[in-house]
Parts: sequence; structure tokens; C-alpha cells
Amino acid sequence: MQRVLSGIQPSGIPTLGNYLGAIRNWVPMQDDHECLFCVVDLHAITAVFQEPEVLRRQTREMAAALIACGIDPDRCTLFVQSHVHAHHRLAWIFNNVVRMGWLNRMTQFKDKAGKDRENVSAGLFIYPALMAADILVYKATKVPVGDDQKQHLELTNDIAQKFNHDYGVDYFPQVEALIQGVAARVMSLRDGTKKMSKSDPSDQSRINLTDDADTIANKIKRAKTDPEPLPEHVSGLEGRPEARNLVGILAAITGTTPEGVLREHGGQGFGSFKGVLTDALVSHLEPIQKRMQHLLTDPNALDLLLRKGADRASSIADPIADEVERMVGFLPRR
Ligand code: TYM
Repeated sequence: MQRVLSGIQPSGIPTLGNYLGAIRNWVPMQDDHECLFCVVDLHAITAVFQEPEVLRRQTREMAAALIACGIDPDRCTLFVQSHVHAHHRLAWIFNNVVRMGWLNRMTQFKDKAGKDRENVSAGLFIYPALMAADILVYKATKVPVGDDQKQHLELTNDIAQKFNHDYGVDYFPQVEALIQGVAARVMSLRDGTKKMSKSDPSDQSRINLTDDADTIANKIKRAKTDPEPLPEHVSGLEGRPEARNLVGILAAITGTTPEGVLREHGGQGFGSFKGVLTDALVSHLEPIQKRMQHLLTDPNALDLLLRKGADRASSIADPIADEVERMVGFLPRR
């Protein structure tokens, strides 16, 4: 069975982008792959200062959200990244494999650092080496992610290849990015050229998985559109990023294609289309929200699940980290 790993930052409530671009695609993989999913708290402290209490709360909320979306701790390994120390161990080694020039080319770093490069954390810069360690410390070969993670996975392969070359081994496999579906890149509701993101300062730009019906209705109503009615065919979405985004969201949430959505709604104005989209979102998200709320009533049970997940993850990762440290020339502890 092929090993799958993916992760999500507990830096806020998961958005519809996280759900449609990643989490929802993880769920069916549990049937026929060995899956590991982690809440990446080590990554969450790289971009902005996280209040400790908030980080703790958001880590639990993210775990609860994943379970509520169908990630089943009995059929996969669900854990918190910082609990499995092998991630830190391999990340340090990879910090010394990765080249500054490679990290300098990372578009996510450039986007997040903006003009303030001198003032962002060193952690934000070396983030991709930690991400490579997250995957390779399990020798996972499949990584289901949204479109924005593609460059990080190419870098993971560069790191694996350079490590193998430097140490004269054929140890780390190449990993495959699985970027699936019409919603691999869900865009902001306020600007169809910008990714929907947990960290966007405007809450109006995103649907959070915990938004109630009124909030969803309000955000969709205010979502940016253009004055034309919806086209009859996908080719008519060209140059209309906001329309394309809303059509893509409805297609993903109702399990159809943009063509299918336009067959039904082509020619309609946005007023009625937004009503349909709101209803579809509310009825899809409501059961997830109920499950999430229920899980959060018992944080101890959630913590126990996560501890068990971390033990299982460590039992795979520790021997791999041991072996890598031996290859590098560190004296064995035992
Ligand atoms: P993060 O927390 O930003 O996002 C989690 C997942 O959601 C996807 N995603 C989206 N997909 C479609 N449209 C969007 N607007 C959108 N926004 C986010 C992301 O592509 C991702 O799959 N670096 C990663 C976390 C990570 C990781 C890993 C992932 C750390 N280690 C190892 C895979 C393997 C991140 O910041 O994801």
C-alpha cells in the first residue's frame, strides 16, 4: 500500500479552500492507502506570532475539523506535528541540504514576507525544508494538496535527490503531488485573482467551515462578481475570475463539473445563482459543523486520540530518522 502524508496549519479555522482543495480529497484515500495526516503546529509559528492559548485552541479545533470532515483516526494516523520529534531531527539535516538559492525562489516566502524581508522570521524562510522533512520522514510518496503547495513539493524532490546524491544512497523516494479537482485553487470572495486564505485580514474574503447559515448567505451575497449573466459554456468564464471561482465552488460542493453547473445555470444572473450556491454550502457544511461542535465538547478525548496518533507516527518516523542520522555520520545513541 502506498503511503500518503499531508498537513494543515492550525493558524485559523479551516476555509472552504482548505476543505475543497485538500481535506475532502484526503477522505477517500483512507480506503486504499496508508494515510498520515498532521496538524502542523511547527509551521504555524513561522509567519506571525501566535498567542500560546490561541495556538493550543486552534490545534484542537483543526483536529476536530478534520475528524468532522471524515478523517477517521481508526483508519489513518492523525497527529500533531510537534509531538513527533523525528520531524525536527530530519528538518535540521535538510536545512543543511537545501540551498539558500532554492529557498530564495519560493513564491510563498516572497508573498508572505512581502517588502519586509529583513523582519520576518528565519523559520518562515526555512519552512520548505521542514515540510520536506514532514513527508520524507515517513518516506511517503503521495501528497494530496491544493495547487499552492506545488512548488514546495518540487523542492521536496530536489532535497531528496541532493541528499541521496551527497550521501551516495538511494534512500529517499520521489514524491508525487496530488492536486485534484476543480477546486484545487479556491479564490478569495473579494478578489478572484487571490487565493482564499485563513490568514487574509478580511473575513469577508473566505468561507470558514464554522460559518453559520446567515454568515455564509451574507458573504456570498457580498462576493465580488461582474455585471454579465453566467455564460452557457466554460469558455465564457475566460477573463472572469470571480465568476469562474463561484462556478467552481458550486461544482465541487455538488460533485459536478463547471460544465454541469453552466448547463443548469448558464444565462442566469448572479442574484439567483448566489442563492443556489448559498443553499448548497449551508446544507453541505451544517453536518460537519455539528460533528465538530460535538467533538470539541470533550477535549480530553480529542487529546487522547492525538497522542495515540503521535505514537503510531513516531513508530514509523523514529527508525527513519535514526537511519538518516547514521548515514550523516552522527554517533548512534544506542
Ligand atoms: P495550509 O495550512 O496553508 O493549507 C492546507 C491545505 O489546504 C490547501 N489550500 C487550498 N486549496 C485550494 N484552494 C485554496 N484557496 C487553498 N488554501 C489552502 C493547501 O494547498 C494545503 O493542501 N505548507 C502546508 C502545510 C504542510 C504540508 C506538509 C502539506 C506542512 N507540511 C507536508 C503537505 C505535506 C500549508 O501551509 O498548508
